[in-house]
Formats: sequence, structure tokens, C-alpha cells
Amino acid sequence: DPLIIRDKATMRRWSRSMRAQSKTISLVPTMGYLHQGHFSLITQAHTHSDLTVLSIYINPAQFAPSEDLSTYPSDFHADLDKLKKAFPRRGVDVVFYPYDLYDYGEGGRRRRRSSDCFNSGSGGNGVVSCVEDGKSGHETWVRVEGLERGLCGKSRPIFFRGVATVVVKLFNVVEPDVAVLGKKDYQQWRIICRMVRDLDFPVTVIASEIVRESDGLALSSRNVYLSPEERKKALSISSSLSRAKLAAENGQQSCRELKISVVQSIIEAGGKVDYAEIVDQDTLEVVDVVDRSLVFCVAAWFGKVRLIDNMEIDV
Ligand code: PAJ
Repeated sequence: DPLIIRDKATMRRWSRSMRAQSKTISLVPTMGYLHQGHFSLITQAHTHSDLTVLSIYINPAQFAPSEDLSTYPSDFHADLDKLKKAFPRRGVDVVFYPYDLYDYGEGGRRRRRSSDCFNSGSGGNGVVSCVEDGKSGHETWVRVEGLERGLCGKSRPIFFRGVATVVVKLFNVVEPDVAVLGKKDYQQWRIICRMVRDLDFPVTVIASEIVRESDGLALSSRNVYLSPEERKKALSISSSLSRAKLAAENGQQSCRELKISVVQSIIEAGGKVDYAEIVDQDTLEVVDVVDRSLVFCVAAWFGKVRLIDNMEIDV
């Protein structure tokens, strides 16, 4: 069974003692409600280090007040069971499930649950307040200013600031050699890579391919909130993306045409498109012509659920 660590000090002590024994450590950061996509990251981690730390933390700083922090699915004990079933032999060495990640010990036992703290002020203006008592407990942020602007950054202006900052905090507490991230969140992966480079973190970032259901739907913790009917409709994202990928790889060069086909399919299925963009794989800049390898990124709403997906176009 994995060791379950609940506080920052114990986590850091464990990592340092392992490192003193020359062990290398991978970190797999998650928000829990584990599924096969998360497990594929753990399998990747096994090939890159001696030990694996899985973190489970619903990071309030990456949710705007209007978003689904309070309803984000979680079930810690079920996660442990799923983990055991998925990896009967070698799973993770530590599950880091912190209660004190944003607790700096100033009169602080009150702020225990992640849901107690933070939320950005309305409009994503950078004001952080504590939901519980209106006082901010944290005011330092990491921003990857160019990469965070497009795609999901447009409709979620504080999202990547919250992600980058919590990943830095996890890096500083866990001190991993390797971090494994999924390409499902393509922009997030690119942002973490850039942050690691720009700030000289001694961490190697490994990307893991998207895991899908057999019908193509990308696995996501949020899929549990899709009704069976919405789930069927949501397949329009992956099916239209794979048709567009095929068309592009067979010579369709117009990004405009490719985007129209995806947007139309999603709208016809009853979804609401947040964005459908074809961008450079590294810079995430929008391109007009398929003249190199690109990635087609989509976000769309089905009912109350916002889903994201992407496919790389390799030419
Ligand atoms: P979460 O959505 O739980 O995802 C954790 C990791 O699993 C991310 O790296 C994500 O890309 C990966 N992942 C999710 N679904 C996947 C799928 N279908 N196939 C492959 N990988 C998949 O992303 C977050 O949490 C948070 O933003 C976090 C990085 C933990 C910071 O709070």
C-alpha cells in the first residue's frame, strides 16, 4: 500500500530521505477522481524514476468564482481503491493529499480544507480572497505570460496562474526529479515546460498521450457529470477532431476549413463551442495554413460541463 502523506513537512522529509539514498522521484500531480488517464501517467512515471509520488489536491486557486470548485468530483477512499486495483503490484510509493498546502501557519489551523481558501476576485483581476473570512493568505503568483493568453486562457483568465503556482508549490515540497503531465491538457503541459525552463527548475517534464474511451471520448474527471445523452453528443468533439486531423494529414491546408468542420459538427450535436483553434505545437500561436506539425485544440460545453480535447496534426 502507498504511504499517505497529508502535510508539507512530512512530504519534504520523505523526499529528502529518499534522495539521500540516491533514489529518483517522479511527481504525478492530479486533482483526484482518478481514471485511466491518470493511471497512464503513473505507468510513465515508473519508466523514468525509482519512486512515484501521486498528489491529489483540488487547487482552489485555479477556479474562478463562477466555476465548478464546489462541485468538482472527489472521493479519496475510492481513489485509493481504484489505485490498488489498477496497480496490484507496483503502484505509487506515496499519495500526497495535503490539507495545508496554502496554510502558512499564521493562526492557521482553521484553514484546513482546500475549499476554505481562495477564489479570485470577480473578473479575474488578481485579487485573492479567502472564501472563509475574506482575508488573503497568499499573494505570490507564477505566470507564463505568453502561453497562458490563448486557448483556455481567454475564457479562464486566472486558470493557468493558479495551475503554474500550485505546480511550483508541489515542486518545492516534493522536490521531484521528474514530473509527468498529460497531453489532454496540452496548453497546461506546454506552460509547465516553459516555466521549468524559464525558472531553472531541476525537473524533467514528461508528457503522456491522451487516454480515450473506446468510442473516442477523452477521459476526464468531469465526464461523470455528463448525462448519457450529453455523453453521446460530446463524442462530436473527438470524432470531428479525428476527421479534421485525417483531412489535414491528407493535404487539406486551410485551417479555416478545418475549423469550420469541427465547429459545425459540435454545434449540430448541440454543444456550445468555447474555442476551436489550430496552433503551433510549441508556441501555441494560431496558424492559418497547415505547413508544419500543429495541434488542433477544442473546448466546448455540453450542458453544464466544459470539455477540452486536442489532436496533433503531423505533416
Ligand atoms: P487533473 O485534471 O486531475 O489531471 C491530472 C493530470 O492527468 C494532468 O496532467 C492531465 O493532463 C492528466 N490527464 C487527465 N486526463 C487525461 C487523459 N484522458 N489522458 C491523459 N492524461 C490525462 O490537470 C490537473 O488535474 C491540474 O490542473 C493540476 C496539474 C493537478 C494542477 O492543479
